[in-house]
Amino acid sequence: MTANTAVNQTDKNSPTTIYLKDYLPPAFLIEKTHLTFQLDPEKTTVTSVLQCVANPKAAPSQSLTLHGQDLKLVRLQLNNKALTAADYCVEEESLTIHAVPDAFTLTCVTEISPATNSSLEGLYKSRTMYCTQCEAEGFRKITYYLDRPDVLSEFTTTVIGDKQQFPVLLSNGNLVASEQLENGFHSATWHDPFKKPAYLFALVAGDLQVVEDNFITCSGRNVVLKIFVEPKDLDKCEHAMASLKNAMKWDEEVYGREYDLDIFMIVAVDDFNMGAMENKGLNIFNTSCVLANPKTTTDAGFARVEGVVAHEYFHNWSGNRVTCRDWFQLSLKEGFTVFRDEEFSSDMGSRTVKRVEDVNVMRTLQFAEDGGPMAHPVQPASFMEISNFYTLTIYEKGAEVVRMYHTLLGPELFRQGSDLYFERHDGEAATIEDFTAAMAEVSGRDFSQFKYWYSQAGTPVVKAEGDYCAQAKTFSLTFEQYCPDTPEAKGSDKKPYHIPVNVSLLGKAGLLPLTLDSQAQPQTEVVLELTEAQQTFVFNDVQEEPVPSLFRGFSAPVKSAYPYKKADLLRITTQDSDGFARFDAMQQLAVVAIFDVMAALRKQEEWQLEPLLLNAVKELLTNEALDPAMVALMCTLPSQAYMSGLATPIEVELIHQARNAVKAAIAEQCFDLWLAVYNRCLSTKAYAFNANDVALRSLKKVALEYLMVKPTEEVLALCVKQFNNADNMTDESAAMSALVDCTAPLAAKERVDALAQFYERWKDEALVVNLWLSVQAADSTPGALKRVEALLKHPAYDSANPNKIRSVVSVFCNQNAVNFHAIDGSGYVFLADQILVLNKQNPQIASRLLGPLTKWQKYDVNRQGLMREQLLRIQSEPALSKDVYEVVAKSL
Ligand code: PHE
Ligand code: ZN
Repeated sequence: MTANTAVNQTDKNSPTTIYLKDYLPPAFLIEKTHLTFQLDPEKTTVTSVLQCVANPKAAPSQSLTLHGQDLKLVRLQLNNKALTAADYCVEEESLTIHAVPDAFTLTCVTEISPATNSSLEGLYKSRTMYCTQCEAEGFRKITYYLDRPDVLSEFTTTVIGDKQQFPVLLSNGNLVASEQLENGFHSATWHDPFKKPAYLFALVAGDLQVVEDNFITCSGRNVVLKIFVEPKDLDKCEHAMASLKNAMKWDEEVYGREYDLDIFMIVAVDDFNMGAMENKGLNIFNTSCVLANPKTTTDAGFARVEGVVAHEYFHNWSGNRVTCRDWFQLSLKEGFTVFRDEEFSSDMGSRTVKRVEDVNVMRTLQFAEDGGPMAHPVQPASFMEISNFYTLTIYEKGAEVVRMYHTLLGPELFRQGSDLYFERHDGEAATIEDFTAAMAEVSGRDFSQFKYWYSQAGTPVVKAEGDYCAQAKTFSLTFEQYCPDTPEAKGSDKKPYHIPVNVSLLGKAGLLPLTLDSQAQPQTEVVLELTEAQQTFVFNDVQEEPVPSLFRGFSAPVKSAYPYKKADLLRITTQDSDGFARFDAMQQLAVVAIFDVMAALRKQEEWQLEPLLLNAVKELLTNEALDPAMVALMCTLPSQAYMSGLATPIEVELIHQARNAVKAAIAEQCFDLWLAVYNRCLSTKAYAFNANDVALRSLKKVALEYLMVKPTEEVLALCVKQFNNADNMTDESAAMSALVDCTAPLAAKERVDALAQFYERWKDEALVVNLWLSVQAADSTPGALKRVEALLKHPAYDSANPNKIRSVVSVFCNQNAVNFHAIDGSGYVFLADQILVLNKQNPQIASRLLGPLTKWQKYDVNRQGLMREQLLRIQSEPALSKDVYEVVAKSL
């Protein structure tokens, strides 16, 4: 009865592949679910009472198969009859009851062991507290159930625990009863009136403090807002609470979505595999995504909290009220919700800065995923382990696809489409096709070609060329698109995409008016719709030879190329009205400059910094009218990871050297300007998180980075002063990073002192310690692996905590390329060792760590061999988790 048909089973040990095309509706539905938890670290008893009925929309079935994993079955009862071994069959991951009627009540008692559950999925312990994580398929680690998102049920949950240890007992919905029990125990019963799939279930028990507030909805209802934290974190909730209220208001205003329960709760937990989880009425957050205080949290941290709080809140509609039919539809909720949170953050802060940051993630990380062995469509066609598909493609590329509807339809029609989608599917489990249908219906547009954005993997390449005819005063733009082959659909000829290209033409003095054949009214930006493999658009009445500004705002997630001259790029950096386009042109200039230096270094020749780049930087540093945030972004060189995506084989050391050389040259030749900028950014105002102040601090940070490349005594003193006197973590950690990154002998002592002092100051603040760990893990000076190995033994490290693992292991392997890719292969062996340990302990985290090894084909033959060797070593491990198995198998 489940869609999990076994196919492609090459040998007994390899996991089953699940296919979208095999989807079948469930044979049974669970109308009501009543759960009772008797909490105990090693022996929690879960009693479930399920009201089941045959699904009228599915083929009839005599037997019922439920999902279950790591459960001890204690008792099973159908209606009033106790079942015996002959009535059912328990397997590794399921329970089948041989004969069931059309409607019945199933009572099931199981035992689980939260204290030894290190996977952080199902019911587990984080420090002193109990909590759950059920998405995607974690509920089956709690009790036998139809653990699939198209089974929606009304949940009632009773939690019983020791009152002194666990004064707070929470679950979804409204508190309907609480009782004092014998022996110091107490119970709380929660009822969630909204039907939901099991992945949205949550339970929390702990000794927690609460910060409380309220929100009056647009229809005048009062909603109680509660954030639960450990007592030590009470002073770090204000920003999350303010963000939550802003998000609630924004969703009413921009999407017409009102909150539906009388209470909304957030709980902060230390041990969490992901950022946060949108459980109905009871969001559970990684502490790193909810706690914020100016003293301990950087601006980036504040922005993350604001974005994630909003993201999880927005899921209440895009995910919970309308959920997903199956996990192939994951981007239906995630892509849409990311688009919503990106727009929210843009409205709260700087739209351009937010766009540049998001596009950087797309181009650096998502493009790499699209170009690697795990490439998959936004709507995948198959998977082995769904946990492996919480990816940049599902989230970020999915959001870009939703953004393209917004671009093609315009804000009003897009909103109508969204309203129709929510109205039509409220209380249902929907598909990506349903979303597209709503957008098509309100606009009368045909999205049949647009759908390839969902079904085809890979990043399309768009090459454009322009041709100006001085006599006819026409400018024609010719585009060519293709999408390279990806391993998951080898040899399949990819169809051309429907691509919105936002275009302006720049003249010497700014944007030119545009007249296309099809348009009467001249405007300065148009959305061209590219649908053919090759297509030409002609602009009329173009009075001078223009420089085209293409894909403004990154209007489509493609790799675009246009044969710009360096001077053209310079014109865009100064003349374009689109902030993203200005940034992008500057970045292209920097890329060219770095490539030039790489070419010279390869031939061991002299080189000179590209004068146009130098001039552009000087102009940015002297023009005080510019937005400091834009200056900071535009003066930041493309990262090692970004450069690595531009050419294969990736020349790890050469990129590193050339980047540093360009940075040093800019630092040296603009030293006085940087010093002036730094001083201009100093502020005596108290810390506030708003676009203007964040902008100033970001430019101050970039200035300090350049100044500290080759610091004078004066600069070193400024840096140390900032490190010691800062009243906020943004400035303090910027100074620490600048000291740690400084290789000048002059700063040798200050560098060591800063790290030691920082730890002394902050050793009791887990999230600040993570920052301290990651600064060291990213330190690109020689000997990093030794230092990283020492960090793993440091008392501040905790090998069971995902945030610590990410701060050290992930940062080293992803953000310290020269050391991770050391030519002796030591970095690869180190990572494989870590993965093999985590494979048993926490398969999701183990699988995520594999990322850098899977990209082996992008490196030189020598490194390829070394990386493959470690992948093979992992593959030969006998008890490989599904998670790790899938990624390793697909990358070899
Ligand atoms: N659904 C969560 C989100 O994006 C992410 C998540 C997935 C969290 C799986 C935990 C486990 O908001
Ligand atoms: Zn989400």
